[in-house]
Amino acid sequence: MRPKNLTTNDHEKSIHQRLHSRWAAGSLRQLSISNSLIDFSSNDYLGFARSAELKAQFEDSLKEHPHFQLGSTGSRLLAGNDRFTEALENEIAAFHLAESALIFNSGYDANLGLLSSLPQRKDTIIADELVHASIIDGARLSYANRFMFRHNDLHSLEQKLKRSTGKIYIVVESIYSMDGDEAPLMEICNLAERYAAAVLVDEAHAVGLFGNQGRGLVEEKGLNDRVFARTVTFGKALGTHGAAILGSNILRSFLVNFARSFVYSTAASFTSHLATKVAYHFLTQYDHQSAIHQRINLFKSIVNAGDQLVKSRSPIQMIIIPGNQEAKNAAKELSHLGFDVRPILSPSVKTGSERLRICLHNHNSLEEIEQLALSLKTIVSPRVLGTN
Ligand SMILES: Cc1ncc(COP(=O)(O)O)c(C=O)c1O
Repeated sequence: MRPKNLTTNDHEKSIHQRLHSRWAAGSLRQLSISNSLIDFSSNDYLGFARSAELKAQFEDSLKEHPHFQLGSTGSRLLAGNDRFTEALENEIAAFHLAESALIFNSGYDANLGLLSSLPQRKDTIIADELVHASIIDGARLSYANRFMFRHNDLHSLEQKLKRSTGKIYIVVESIYSMDGDEAPLMEICNLAERYAAAVLVDEAHAVGLFGNQGRGLVEEKGLNDRVFARTVTFGKALGTHGAAILGSNILRSFLVNFARSFVYSTAASFTSHLATKVAYHFLTQYDHQSAIHQRINLFKSIVNAGDQLVKSRSPIQMIIIPGNQEAKNAAKELSHLGFDVRPILSPSVKTGSERLRICLHNHNSLEEIEQLALSLKTIVSPRVLGTN
């Protein structure tokens, strides 16, 4: 029964107030339809999602499966499993030089399932302060103790290691989604080993871009055997959707039993898995990495924005423009010039570190990148690069 004096109107009022505060802070989130501007914002780093060649390969492969089902019809533990999915997992594991892979419906689900199930009561999760929301949410669902360490700061990490109990799990991203910079993976593994801690690495923004044929930064650094689990996602450079956790066979069995985002969710469709299979194949067909790194180097050589440009060798390039309104204005000016660059506002990032997030892609021509970089120098420079 509804308590006296409380009407559904009150519920609306309360959520309206929260929305209003966001609006007043200049940080109201709103859905918008993709535009026809030049893409400097999507995660389609290698242009796979829009590749006519990859689409044609997908359509050809689909013809080989005329009796495919539209939906998987259940979770993997019930009706939603098949040989195709398991073979794909074996291929993904082999590509990334891992013992096994377990597919999740998204990177969010993968991290949520991993972090919420693996660390037990009295264990400790230590995460970099800039890890993705999916890791934070997973850790919140766990009964383990939780610490954050200062971004990429080994001293801060060691302080937390000293205070940890039980089994320790250090969680980092190999390439950080918000700053595009990278974790000192080698040093983190060295430190972890001194404290018998397991290292979990989210490779969402490294797959396809780093390592031999895009196997990721863990592979590039030769750390496959020193990292306990890796999250690879398909929705960024691979241009499809979904994710996998890479690790040992035991870890895979554990997740099949305990990762609730895996157990209690309908498996992805056949077409989704097929698209990912074809995308992985496409990744090894050409040298996509040289093209993207050429673009990144070109952009950096022109912008040369000193401290305001976060140090990054990834396609994610950040220019700090303090203030929600300032960052929004800069993005708007760029949109008038035809560039789709998104501002990242607080509270997504700390107040005062609002920024423009520029994502470079293989479908951006060298001329487009040059034009964007030059425009940034004129539009953004008077605002924040003036001291440079
Ligand atoms: C570092 C990182 N991990 C996980 C995710 C979630 O992946 P998905 O979009 O597949 O849910 C993202 C997505 O933005 C991400 O940036």
